[in-house]
Amino acid sequence: MNGDAQIHQLFPTVVRTSNIENFQALNEKLTPGVEAIRKTTPNTKPDDWACSVYTTLHSSIELLDTEPFTLLKPIIQREVSQYADALGIHAPIEHLRFLDAWLNIYAKGDSQEMHIHQNSIFSGIYYIKAPEGCSAVQFQSPLIDTMIAPALFETNELNSTGAFLPAKEGRMILFRSHLKHAVMTNNVNEERISLSFNIDLA
Ligand SMILES: [Fe+2]
Repeated sequence: MNGDAQIHQLFPTVVRTSNIENFQALNEKLTPGVEAIRKTTPNTKPDDWACSVYTTLHSSIELLDTEPFTLLKPIIQREVSQYADALGIHAPIEHLRFLDAWLNIYAKGDSQEMHIHQNSIFSGIYYIKAPEGCSAVQFQSPLIDTMIAPALFETNELNSTGAFLPAKEGRMILFRSHLKHAVMTNNVNEERISLSFNIDLA
């Protein structure tokens, strides 16, 4: 290679993970709330999803204004504001506007197909229950549909079109809402429970 040649990694996809403090105590408080909602709220999985999963997406529940999920609201605000700071986006907490928040319960065999979160700026996932070996979330390059895929002799950060982040109890994953993602099939007997949310700026 030419001695002064440089590889420039332009326009990275920025995903943030953080482990929420005292998450065991938090999740112990959230879990009865999950059970209460599951008992009273039918699955609102849209008809055009091929996957199987229990979700409260599109239900009328204002989840983060409902006890005990209100506990998560200031945590999400803080984490999203910090994520925005890292991206250089002016997004003070008072400008963050919650668009939606919903629960996802993955029994054994459940999954969620590749999708984006439309009409939103920031999206996130918080894991209330993530048993050992449960499914990861897969992120996909926004460019994948426009790429010609030449044969690779190795996979690395410069040529990968997807990445997996494991589910971990107490972990929050934040990403820009246009980023394609999917949840792999849950192959363990225990349920995997996550809370997802969308936020834009007022
Ligand atoms: Fe999603």
